[in-house]
This record gives sequence, structure tokens and C-alpha cells, in this order.
Amino acid sequence: MNYKELVFAFNRIGIALSSETKMNKLFNLIVDEIIEFADCDACSLYIKNLDKHELIFEATKTVSLLKKDESSVFKSFSVPLTRKSISGYTAITGETVNICDCYKIGEDKEYDFDKSYDKKTGYRTVSMLSVPMRSTDGDILGVIQLINKIDKNGNIVPFSAEFEQIILSLASQAAVALSNVRLLEANKNLYKALVKSFSQAIEERSPHTAGHSKRVAFISEMIAKHINNKTEGVYSNIFFTYEKLEELKYAALLHDVGKVAVPENVLEKQNKLSDDEMEVITNRFETIKFSITLNMSDMDEIKKAIDGVDNELNFIISKNLPGFISDEDKIKVKEIGAKFYTEFDGTQHSYLTEKEIFMLTDFVKGNFSPDEWEKMKKHVSSTLDILKEVPFTEELKDIPKIAGAHHEMLDGSGYPYHLGHENIMLQSRILAVADVFEALTAADRPYKKAVPLDRSIKILEFMAKDGELDKDIVQMFLDDKLYEIYLDARDNDRIIV
Ligand SMILES: [Fe+2]
Ligand SMILES: [Fe+2]
Repeated sequence: MNYKELVFAFNRIGIALSSETKMNKLFNLIVDEIIEFADCDACSLYIKNLDKHELIFEATKTVSLLKKDESSVFKSFSVPLTRKSISGYTAITGETVNICDCYKIGEDKEYDFDKSYDKKTGYRTVSMLSVPMRSTDGDILGVIQLINKIDKNGNIVPFSAEFEQIILSLASQAAVALSNVRLLEANKNLYKALVKSFSQAIEERSPHTAGHSKRVAFISEMIAKHINNKTEGVYSNIFFTYEKLEELKYAALLHDVGKVAVPENVLEKQNKLSDDEMEVITNRFETIKFSITLNMSDMDEIKKAIDGVDNELNFIISKNLPGFISDEDKIKVKEIGAKFYTEFDGTQHSYLTEKEIFMLTDFVKGNFSPDEWEKMKKHVSSTLDILKEVPFTEELKDIPKIAGAHHEMLDGSGYPYHLGHENIMLQSRILAVADVFEALTAADRPYKKAVPLDRSIKILEFMAKDGELDKDIVQMFLDDKLYEIYLDARDNDRIIV
């Protein structure tokens, strides 16, 4: 190899190594490139694990032992980090070890050759070059071992001394690439940890929804992976890469992050009126009953009137619970509320205040008044606002978009932007189905009771039929019994994301 060829090869290898972002792929790439560059029969790569004082055997390849079409799965393993092995010696001392024949290592050397691999495979290791992978700040990150240098006649020869320097430089390039991938992985792990603690922080605000995002992430990921396995039908051409699955999972974990901006009293609301507000009403009704005893003389009449007030109070209490209220009941609440009683000071008051009547009759969803419901709905735009500020990597850039559309409906009836089906990504549709199903089947919440499974399935089917949820996702979720897999995992504490 002349100088020009050498520079060219170096450059090519440098580019290849620096563009690899996956650790395992990088290790194999280093081994492949070195074998090709150095004209040797085999190459092994060890990475130092200082915490455990060991060397991890990460990748290896022996060209002459490769059979055609054979794809063997290499499993990494670790060896103790000692000067007794050649790799260990290089890793500890940082010295390059160049051996002409591994079976003739002098007694004066600290290291020796481990013949077990040769014995097992019938291979004969002759020449070996063991070089440290040194990072730019001088740390030894690992060791590369080149085995059996082949000359142009196909004979095994020793590695030349001048070749040592070239391989040493290549090993340093590999070390730089390794540092970069480690940095990238550390970054990703940091992201993951932040995402998880962020979503956990939200859920801890409300014990009633604890675990919701995690469960929604589990369902979403399961649906997406299931789509990947489809070889026919609408999803035959859709495949989520590992990165896209990660993106969806994070979006699901973060989809309700905007709930940080929802006031506590709204988030934690249980009934239409709070316990304190109900207590005021109960006390008032006691006063009403007392005023009856003061203003009436016939005992039978008094008893009848008091029973009537008790019934009215019980009715009000029952209508304070979350849930649907019929027009008939609304009228009844208003009629009770409009009645008057006389206070001790002679002043007259209505049974219920205007606000109380409003809260008991004019709620929009479950137990929310229109104003409270607006505040609750705002969590989606808050999610978007928060996530837009996060500088996600290219691979995760759609997280805000996916998460921000989890309450959008295909027919445009969702919120906050009333997006139609053409503007809602498949990932958001998956997330929407997961969100609805989790919420329906979740244990009791302040504003709703758990819905039985058969009813939850019916609701999903209706929402798909009405054009709210994606019918293909719902159909697959139900037909392929994905919900059973989820419920089984949930009920057996196997929700891991
Ligand atoms: Fe939500
Ligand atoms: Fe949600």
C-alpha cells in the first residue's frame, strides 16, 4: 500500500467509523475494516470495563473459519483484566504487543497465549498484533488484536514493525468513534431518564391517574409492533423502525405532561360540587328542617315536610356524583333550588344558590363545569407548548406533534385544533386509541367509574364507527385481542416501558 492509498483508506475508514451510531455495529465495523485493511485472517476487539476490572470480548471475526452463508450469533463475554493475557497486558500497560508465533512466547514475558480457542476450533494462531485503543485524552478504552497476517502469497507472516504504527493510529480512530457513540448513548439515556421522570412527576400530582402514561405507552408500543408484523391488509407496508417505536413510546409517556398547568382543584375534582360545598348544602338543609319545626304546629305535617326535605337533599347528593343527568332531573334540581326557607333572622333564602344549581346541572363532561372543562382541555396545548421547547434529536423530533394530537378525532371533533384525518399522524391515532382504552378500563377515577370491559369495547367500536377513532386500529386492537394482552400485563404488574 503506497502513501496515497494509505491516506485514502484511512479517510474512508474514518468516515465509516464516525458515521456509525450503534455500539454493536461499530464494534463489528471496526473488526471488518481492520481485517480488510491489514490483510489478516482474524481480528478481535475487547472493551475495558474498569468498574468490574474486566475486559469485555465484544466482537471477533476469523475469515478462514467463516463458512458460506453461515451467520453465527456472537455473544460477548468478559475476561478478567490481568497482565497474564495478551489483551489484558495491552489494556493495562498500553503497550503494543507484536508476536511472531503465539506458541513460542518467551518465558520472560508476563503474558501468555490462551490456546483454548485454537483447541476448540482446530485453528492455529501464529502471528498476533495487540494494540491499545487510546482515546484523545490518553485513556485506554480497549484492545484490538490482529491475528495471522497474510502475505501476497497467502502465507502467514509476522506483522511488520512499521505496520504497528499504522494500526495504532487506526485503533485511536476507533477509540474516538467509540467515545462518540458512548456520548450519544449517554445523551439518549439522559433523554430517556428525563422523559420518564417528567411523566412520573405529572402522575404523582394526581394519584388517581398514576401509571396512566406508562400504560398508554405500553399499549401504543404494542399496537405499533403488531403493525410491524402485519404482512397483509392496510398495514402490510407500514413498519416502525426502532427509532420510530422509541419516538412513539416517549410521545405516549409525555402526552399528558401539560396537566402540570391544570389547577389542582380541577385535576383532582371528584364530584360536581366539592365536599366542602356539599357540607354547606347539608347544613343549610338542617336549617331548613329546623325552620319547618318553628313555623308549623301539626306534628304529622312537620314530619311529612321534614321527610320531604330529606328526600330532596338525598336527591341533590345523588346528582352530585359524576355522570349523566337527564333533562327531567335538571328540572327537578332547579325546582328544589328555587324553593325558599326562612332563616332565624327572618330573611328568606333559596334552597340552592345559582352557582350550586349551575354546577349540578350545567357540567359538560363527567363532573366538569364548562369553565373547568376548558381548563382540563387546555392540558393538550400545554403539552405542545412544553414539548416544543425541548430540543429533541432528529430521531425524536415528532414527539410534540404526536403527543399534541392525542385528543384529536378523525372527524375533526377533537381538540385543541379540530384536526381532520388527513392531518393526524398514524402515531397520534394509535395514541388516541390507547389513551381512550386505558382511561375507560382504568380503576375508578375521581370523575368516573371504571367501565366494564364489554362496555369499553362497545365504546371503542362506537367511536370508530362515528369517525372519531381510527377504525383500522380499533378493529386490529379488538380482533387480534391486543386488549387482552394489555389487561393481562396490567393485572400482573408487567407494564414495563
Ligand atoms: Fe390527555
Ligand atoms: Fe391521557
